[in-house]
Amino acid sequence: MIKHEFGGEWTRIKLEVLEKYLNIYTTALKNQPFTLHYVDAFAGTGQRDDEDKKTDPLLELEALKGSVRRALECRDTFHEYHFNDLKLEHVQALEELRAEYPEKVIHITRLDANDFVTNFCRSLGATERAIVFLDPYSTAVHWRTLQAIAATKKVDLWMLFPISILLRILPQSGPRDEWRPCIERLLGTTEWENACYVESEPLIGDLFGGQETKPQRSDHEAVIQFVTRRLREIFPHVGEPTRLNQRSGLLFLFYFAVSNPHPKAKALATKLSRAIQPKP
Ligand SMILES: C[S@@+](CC[C@H](N)C(=O)[O-])C[C@H]1O[C@@H](n2cnc3c(N)ncnc32)[C@H](O)[C@@H]1O
Repeated sequence: MIKHEFGGEWTRIKLEVLEKYLNIYTTALKNQPFTLHYVDAFAGTGQRDDEDKKTDPLLELEALKGSVRRALECRDTFHEYHFNDLKLEHVQALEELRAEYPEKVIHITRLDANDFVTNFCRSLGATERAIVFLDPYSTAVHWRTLQAIAATKKVDLWMLFPISILLRILPQSGPRDEWRPCIERLLGTTEWENACYVESEPLIGDLFGGQETKPQRSDHEAVIQFVTRRLREIFPHVGEPTRLNQRSGLLFLFYFAVSNPHPKAKALATKLSRAIQPKP
């Protein structure tokens, strides 16, 4: 079996939150007249190979389950599973995994996650509901993909947002031209520059009495709040993100967003997501 090493303690937190939500979501909706889909756009292999081994072999087995396997093992089942990954070996591993669950309807694709999610969103019918999980390593998710999810009004989204990478491509000393396209794909606006930079105090008076200022990046909190605000412009509900840290500091933000604007759907999704807040 191919090895897929990624993450650390923060991965455990992320996957446990997702798994709890999948369980309570499928249980809460099992008697409703909906077809339920689980959509994993960066599916991996179903397994993660972690250097941080546990001493108890049973605990270790649990900790090493990836998102796909956790979704397949929910108490109440989804009607259909959609697993996508760009890497050939990962898709092959997913196909092997599918053979272990012959009773389940599992679709596997090898597309860029943005195309995959957009196609899926377009295909959703009136009586279908879905959870989409976006778990990229980096800045692969485009804003237009989030817009496609929001436009369905039928999808609950769990998404890992690469805040440490965004902070790296927003240097303290001012924006760099080569990173503008990436930032704009990620945040879907040119407004990031006003939101994430402030003019510094004037330092030097020039010959004509003018004063030179340089843009300076706002603090982390201001950047995080800008990302959350952007998401709240397109989704009717976005929870405060869970901050996933590693020793060197903040790594990812883990967001939950609800696309259905109906007050009942929003209230249910919010209640369910609050019930599963991560344990430190
Ligand atoms: C963090 S891993 C996903 C882990 C998985 N959710 C799990 O819990 O086991 C990210 C995955 O995204 C895949 N990937 C990277 N870029 C992609 C893209 N643009 N579209 C789809 N998959 C991509 C990688 O091959 C990798 O398997």
